[in-house]
Amino acid sequence: MTAPEFRTIIEPFRIHSVEPLRITTQAERETAIRAAGYNLFNLHADDVLIDLLTDSGTGAMSRDQWAAIQHGDESYAGSPSWFRFLEAVQTLFPFPHVIPTHQGRAAEKILFTAIGGAGKVIPNNTHFDTTRANVEFTGAEAVDLVIPEGREPANEHPFKGNMDLGALEALLTERTADVPAVFVTITNNSGGGQPVSLENLHGVRDVCDRFAVPLFLDACRFAENAWFIRSRETGQGDRDVIDIVREIAGLADGMTMSAKKDPLANIGGWLAMRDDALAERCRNLLILTEGFPTYGGLAGRDLEAIAQGLTEAVNHDYLRYRIRSTAYLGEALDAAGVPVVKPIGGHAVYLDARALLPHVPPLSYPGQALAVALFEAGGIRGCEIGTVMFGRRPDGTESPAAMDLVRLAIPRRTYTQSHVDFVIEVVTSVAARAAELPGYRIVDEPPALRHFTARFEPLG
Ligand SMILES: Cc1ncc(COP(=O)(O)O)c(C=O)c1O
Repeated sequence: MTAPEFRTIIEPFRIHSVEPLRITTQAERETAIRAAGYNLFNLHADDVLIDLLTDSGTGAMSRDQWAAIQHGDESYAGSPSWFRFLEAVQTLFPFPHVIPTHQGRAAEKILFTAIGGAGKVIPNNTHFDTTRANVEFTGAEAVDLVIPEGREPANEHPFKGNMDLGALEALLTERTADVPAVFVTITNNSGGGQPVSLENLHGVRDVCDRFAVPLFLDACRFAENAWFIRSRETGQGDRDVIDIVREIAGLADGMTMSAKKDPLANIGGWLAMRDDALAERCRNLLILTEGFPTYGGLAGRDLEAIAQGLTEAVNHDYLRYRIRSTAYLGEALDAAGVPVVKPIGGHAVYLDARALLPHVPPLSYPGQALAVALFEAGGIRGCEIGTVMFGRRPDGTESPAAMDLVRLAIPRRTYTQSHVDFVIEVVTSVAARAAELPGYRIVDEPPALRHFTARFEPLG
């Protein structure tokens, strides 16, 4: 007999070990953020109450992952942990070449060093910041070709991460020889954590086939994307997520991965591909910068944690809870009148700071203004995804990003519903006095990826 169907979707786990949170006063937080140059990346994490800066590497590992860590074998070459990792990766992504790296950007750095360079262009639905930076660092151009609906925060399209196939075809018609690979990011983090449909992925594959260009996936949130396909795409509702993931992998020639996201690990990543010659070039670069090909930048115990995490990431009860708990936050904020990117993405809720703070122009960084205010009010750390992150162009000029968002990323299996209820209360109260929030100016910034270390000052 099956259990009756109740409405409440619960956490499919119970808590086994706890980490204390430090409650601070608003005055303490104002002092801390001033000392941090109003950059949330510069804070001491123990001054943060609810840390929604990123879902990357911040998830809670399971009992079985901690147990797997005990099996970590630290042999320099050919460790059994490597073979367990390889099997777990290839079960989902059957690429012949799997190259372990310490995290996603190391995979990007190696791949784009091998295929990028001046005069090249890499299309993507939307490049994540490290992906864009690694493409541009080689002198190549990073072009975002997400469908127009993907740039409209209030548009409820179910697959807002889809690639604009017409735009991709136009780019390839004009510059085939300059395109070493087409990328698709699943889910589309910088575009609001929005999924890409299976139909669109098939469409991208067809275009790539016509122009004989390889297709790579930036697959950090592959399981969440597959869950959205299962729950939103016609004809997919009865499929196992593993099956959907394998179909997606079958459409691609390679992938980059940050194991700090859906694979439920605190560190790790990989680069995988079909092409033997490209794999050899990448492995040589790996040895130069990361390590021997059977460990990359990782300890044997990390490889074990990832291998176990991959089996948990595709569990339907986990994915149902994961996607629902993110939607719970987004829907409550939407109902309270806070502008959010819709529909709610998989790993994060994105507040539309440009809509909430119309008095702060993009070059005065409305996303930064909102993120600072959320920290000062309630110790909540979100992340600006907007003009601070994307506004500085490679030629040194500055222009507004497509959107000014604050991302509240939800670490996996980490916070409870009452933590999320607290976040809803704080965001709603800050939104009610949004008209009082000042814009910011940058007083110091590095040449690339400035959002990590720039220092700011409030205006006026
Ligand atoms: C879509 C996407 N690609 C690549 C990366 C880079 O991965 P890592 O942080 O492991 O270097 C991230 C990290 O947030 C991401 O979200």
